[in-house]
Amino acid sequence: MDQNALKRIVAQAALSEIPDGALIGVGTGSTVNAFIDALAASGKSKKLAGAVSSSRATSERLTAIGVPLLDANEVEALELYIDGADEIDSNLCMIKGGGGALTREKIVAAISRRFLCICDFTKRVERLGRFPLPIEVIPMARTYVARELRRLGGQPKWREGFITDNGNHILDVAGLTLDDPLSWEQRLNNIPGVVTNGIFAQQAAHLLLLATPQGIERYERPLPSR
Ligand code: 5RP
Repeated sequence: MDQNALKRIVAQAALSEIPDGALIGVGTGSTVNAFIDALAASGKSKKLAGAVSSSRATSERLTAIGVPLLDANEVEALELYIDGADEIDSNLCMIKGGGGALTREKIVAAISRRFLCICDFTKRVERLGRFPLPIEVIPMARTYVARELRRLGGQPKWREGFITDNGNHILDVAGLTLDDPLSWEQRLNNIPGVVTNGIFAQQAAHLLLLATPQGIERYERPLPSR
């Protein structure tokens, strides 16, 4: 079975996690696009109260299927955030940002009570870091941040020609050993000029639906009190 078929299967499985009348957050990427298609085909899109989107691309798709869009500033909390990942470990910590939407994704995840991650089995890893870590940086700080990242043992590569929805640049960093994702997340965010890095440990998923050739696997993490 090819990866796109697995993405469609996990997108379909996510539908049963969406309560009718819910306000949800929606991520970015091809798995999320499959989820938006499944929402429309099932008619569930008509039963949502609305959504906060993590990117212009997702906003366009949600608008096209008639889901009311809300500004993140208008909502106090979202019931559920649905998104894919580039890598996910056994603690449901992730690397995200392959599509460059990491900052808005992290914000929408932060205002959501639960994070549902949907992905195929190729994204499951023992330790984060094989996928180059995306870091969104203020354009004037790009070279400085790249130097700091090299000092920490990484090999940053500028994603040339790509501008985020926030008008910033992305550095994709290979070679970091992310043995403690939470402390790496905080450490990298402390470099002046970094807007966000793509480690989602503080905003780890609560539920993972993982598509495998044998079927959907389900992994849950207890809900924190927030
Ligand atoms: C975008 C993301 C995506 O969730 C991640 O890149 C996975 O994408 P896909 O579903 O296309 O494999 O973080 O910024």
